[in-house]
Amino acid sequence: MTQPTLIRRERAARPLLLDLFCCAGGAATGYQRAGFDVVGVDIRPRPNYPFRFVQADALEYLAALIASGQIERYAFAHSSPPCQAGCALTVGTNRSKGWGGTHVDLVPPTRVLLEASGLPYVIEQPNGKAEIRKDVRLCGEMFSLGVLRHRNFELGRWSATQPAHVPHRGRVRGWRHGEFFDGPYVAAYGNGGGKPSIPELQTAMGIDWTDVREELTEAIPPAFSQWIGAAFLTRSRVEVAA
Ligand SMILES: C[S@@+](CC[C@H](N)C(=O)[O-])C[C@H]1O[C@@H](n2cnc3c(N)ncnc32)[C@H](O)[C@@H]1O
Repeated sequence: MTQPTLIRRERAARPLLLDLFCCAGGAATGYQRAGFDVVGVDIRPRPNYPFRFVQADALEYLAALIASGQIERYAFAHSSPPCQAGCALTVGTNRSKGWGGTHVDLVPPTRVLLEASGLPYVIEQPNGKAEIRKDVRLCGEMFSLGVLRHRNFELGRWSATQPAHVPHRGRVRGWRHGEFFDGPYVAAYGNGGGKPSIPELQTAMGIDWTDVREELTEAIPPAFSQWIGAAFLTRSRVEVAA
């Protein structure tokens, strides 16, 4: 009798990505789709985070990884330090409401540690944040999303080509200065008049694994980080082949 042939499929090793300040994993999900395994770190419990999760101070955790040599298990690091110290909302019309005044800007110490890590990395911030280089700028319309959500990405130890910005199809829906504007995009922040429902926000962002408004409004759309992750992996493959 013929023995059945055993075909053993080894899963190709996926590079490991450290996702600092991970929240519920908007960025993480895009990187996972691009081809990474992901470990997320956040100071708050994030039970909706869909991958391996460590509750810790991101800077202390990264410093410990560097000191112990465990950082060598990682191929790449993404970071989204909290932006309240300088984001557009706190330096603009909402400043008078007192938001942001006591927040510490975690971008500089994050950059110092990422440099010390030796890893290629990303620091992500919203528009209006002066302290990062805008090596790549992404907009939801580049991915046909229902949010604009302009985000800037500083790339450390690698580079990518800025994709062309595409014209917006209209306005962000909502009230501004007493006037209601309709439009194809929803505002993924706050909770005021004209703001999207949770299902609208999930659809607009491309996120279906959390229905927590705070997690949705903190996230970047996974399409953004999938683009960043794919750009990095493509570049790495080209370098290995050369
Ligand atoms: C802008 S959100 C990150 C969003 C995430 N990249 C995404 O796409 O879903 C920032 C996160 O940093 C976390 N955070 C604030 N201070 C922290 C610290 N010292 N260490 C770790 N996480 C921190 C907050 O709890 C929050 O979840």
